[in-house]
Amino acid sequence: MATSNGTIIPAPLGLLAELTHRCPLGCPYCSNPLALDKRVDELDTASWARVCREAAALGVLQVHLSGGEPAARRDLPDIVKAAREAGLYSNLITSAVGLTPQTLAALAAAGLDHVQISIQDSDEASADHIAGFKSAFARKRALAKEVVRLGLPLTINMVVHRANIGRIEAMVDLSLSLGASRVEIAHVQYYGWALKNRAALMPTGEQVDDAVRTVEMLRDRHRGQIVIDAVVPDYYARFPKPCVGGWGRRSLNVTPAGRVLPCHAAEVIPGLEFWNVREHSLADIWRASPAFLAFRDTNWMREPCQSCPRREQDFGGCRCQAFLLTGDARATDPVCHLSPQHAIVAQAAAERAEKAYEYRS
Ligand code: SF4
Ligand code: FES
Repeated sequence: MATSNGTIIPAPLGLLAELTHRCPLGCPYCSNPLALDKRVDELDTASWARVCREAAALGVLQVHLSGGEPAARRDLPDIVKAAREAGLYSNLITSAVGLTPQTLAALAAAGLDHVQISIQDSDEASADHIAGFKSAFARKRALAKEVVRLGLPLTINMVVHRANIGRIEAMVDLSLSLGASRVEIAHVQYYGWALKNRAALMPTGEQVDDAVRTVEMLRDRHRGQIVIDAVVPDYYARFPKPCVGGWGRRSLNVTPAGRVLPCHAAEVIPGLEFWNVREHSLADIWRASPAFLAFRDTNWMREPCQSCPRREQDFGGCRCQAFLLTGDARATDPVCHLSPQHAIVAQAAAERAEKAYEYRS
């Protein structure tokens, strides 16, 4: 597809459909924005069905049904059915709290292809404490078994941080015992609410090194049994991640109220104009929305990115992180060791505080 400035870009591969911001859990690492979309502003079923059709026509292959907790919407089976009818592969990203076995069966019957369940820890008391919800761990385990019983492929998502990073081996064992075929180990991304809890969540450099070794050991041990996906956390990396595969190049995010973002945190950057699926087609948004064009090419880059040989590999890192840490969305992501502001990251990684988590109320 040609964009409004003549650049040829491939079709997006994935659509993150944030069906609702409502969620029964209160995880301190939540990367959703501080100001959440209200229930009354959420897109209705017919709009989500249209978004699925438009996404498929645009070339999107997968829709990730996320939130908040997507099961907070009673019409979730209808949305899954619409995704299936549009020809999209559907992946449900759920806390499993509030999702009953009956609803899960209805989702399977509607054509759901895959389920990802987040688990906060292998230790029950710690898991419930992190989730801010008593009995969350038991519910997650029960629902994971139900997913496998229904024959749906299961991925376990684990967000690791200082309190649980030492239990990666036990968390992978738990995932195996639940019948998962994949485990995704993600370090906290300090956007949205998570930034408030950064000092309480930040692991030490030693913990991160141990975690990297543990993951390698577990990959060898469980080769052929379970796929283990893990990346080095931002604050301890030498180079930044190519966030979202490059701004406006690979995926779209639709918020509960219908705004379309190049990444889930994009609204932190001031001055960007986001178009809404209520007023524009997804194809028009992908091609011409000002927010998508803002950082799609490399013309916006400053040095050292502008002349760096890696600029088409990592695209200068994460725009949201660059803004949150430096106040300038055009700056080199300070995670990069070549950034003149790299000291900000090194300093933040060294700031740890033994204090209670701040939960969303
Ligand atoms: Fe990537 Fe910019 Fe660092 Fe080069 S200078 S590695 S393009 S972030
Ligand atoms: Fe927005 Fe990385 S989260 S560009």
